[in-house]
Order: sequence, then C-alpha cells, then structure tokens
Amino acid sequence: MALTCSLFYGSPRAVWAGAGRPHGAVTSRVLLFRGLPIRTREDYARLFDGTGLAPRDYVGHAGRREQLDTNVYSSNDDPLEFTIDIHTELSFMPAPPQKVMFCCIKSPGEHGGGETPVTDMRGVMRDMDPSLVERVRTRQIRYVRNIADKSRSSWNWQSNMHSEDREEVERFLTGKGFSYRWNADDSLSYWFSTDGLSEHPGSGETYWFNQLTEHNGSCFKVHPEFMNETKHISEFPRHTSYGDGEEFSEEDLAHVREVQWKNSYGFHWRQGDVLVMDNFMVGHGRMGCNPGVKERKIIASITKN
Ligand SMILES: [Fe+2]
Repeated sequence: MALTCSLFYGSPRAVWAGAGRPHGAVTSRVLLFRGLPIRTREDYARLFDGTGLAPRDYVGHAGRREQLDTNVYSSNDDPLEFTIDIHTELSFMPAPPQKVMFCCIKSPGEHGGGETPVTDMRGVMRDMDPSLVERVRTRQIRYVRNIADKSRSSWNWQSNMHSEDREEVERFLTGKGFSYRWNADDSLSYWFSTDGLSEHPGSGETYWFNQLTEHNGSCFKVHPEFMNETKHISEFPRHTSYGDGEEFSEEDLAHVREVQWKNSYGFHWRQGDVLVMDNFMVGHGRMGCNPGVKERKIIASITKN
C-alpha cells in the first residue's frame, strides 16, 4: 500500500502535536483515530477546538453542506446513494485548506457502503498522462457554478455563500476576481480559472490539486436529482473546462477518474472515527451507500494550517 495511513486507538493527544507540524514526529499523510468517545457533534467540536488548528470557512464551496457548529459542517448532503468523485478540498479557491478532518457520528454499517476513499495524490501525479498534466499546467482549469435561489432548491447560493445579501456575495466574488451573472430565475452563475497543480506548502512538492472531475457536469449524469435532465453539462450546478473554455474530452475525464480511483483506498466507518488528511497529499471522495441505508452522518472541519 503506497499511502501511509496510521491508525491510532484511544486518545489523539499523544500524537497530535506531531501531526500538526509538517516535519513533526508523525509523518503520516492520513491519520485515523478509532475508539474515541465521540457520539455527538458537540463532542467532536470540543476535540477540534483542542487541536489548536486554525479553522477555515467553507464559503464558496462546491457541494451541499450545512454549518452545524462554529467550525463544524456536514460533510455532504447529496443523496446517500450518490458516489462523490475524488477531489482535494476547495482546491479551486485561494488559500485552500491544508487539512481536512472527518468524524463519524453515525456509521452506515459494515455492509452499508458509504466508505470514504482516501487517495494517494503522489501516486496520482506519478500515473497521470504527462501531456494532460502539461495541458492543465499551461491552460489552467475553468470552474463554473450555476446555483439556484433558495426559493427553488435546497442547493442554493445563499447556503453556498453563507449570505442572503446579494451585495455581500458580489463583494466576495469580485474580491476573488471571479466573473458572475444574476439570472432571470434569481439563480447565480459565476466562473473563474485557476491552476490545476499546486506546490505543497510544507515540502514544495508539486501535486495534482484540483476538482477537474468532481466538479465536471458529467457527474450529474448519474446524480439521482439531475440524471433525467437533458441540458448541456455546462448548465449543471458545477462544471469544469480548460481555462480557455474548451471542454475536457471524454477520454481525458475517464483517464483522470481511472488514475484517481486506482490510487484510492477505502475503509468502513465506525462511530467515533476521526480521519485527518493532508489536503495536498491526500484526496478523498465518497462511495454511494447501498440501497436501504437511511443514515450516514459524517461531519467535517477544514483548517488553514
Ligand atoms: Fe470534499
């Protein structure tokens, strides 16, 4: 197994100081703490506060999630049967998070599916077609959002932007250098281009750092709420293309997905599990839950350091 994943039973205090430093005693890219006495989001919030890590907000995120506590969010509110493609968190935003933390409050069970794959992004970089890497490096990636008003969908710009105020949203978008448009149905479209590769803030190593596939409209062709819609993939809530607007070919999308999933490893969640990932070195996604599974509750935090 190429990915270093350390599993700790019991208190994380003994190892935490090392995990929080890029060159500390713990060098793992993924830490899984198992057997912690965490049953509620309040329990997890206390643990997160105790780490001393600096929380980062999710404003402008790509998915559907709810803020549950000051620094705690639902991991994703898409239908449980939907499989979420591999990605690195907020890798399209300035100052992306350096760590991603998940905590299992309610497991779907060993036979329920819903595993969180963790992905060796060093392996992804090694296996990616060098010509595609070069095209992404020179042409960047354009990210497009088409987000409904809250009167029309639970997936709306108000929750995405953490604001009901259009002027505040416009200040946020303008401040990031994003282009935007308010549409006749009160939905918001915005788009921007950014690098698809990034240097690790600690080591300087270059990583495949983007949401080229998870953000691509093709994902919605298998999304339970969108799969019967006939519109162009660029009109779905998320889409990606090259920075100049040219679509990625189906072959390129298939190649990226194959490389990312080939370098991924999964595990069954147990209640109280806490997963900590280096967001540059480790990607993540979600396996869809099996039919009949009604509940899977994973909560999340992201950090600046
Ligand atoms: Fe994510």
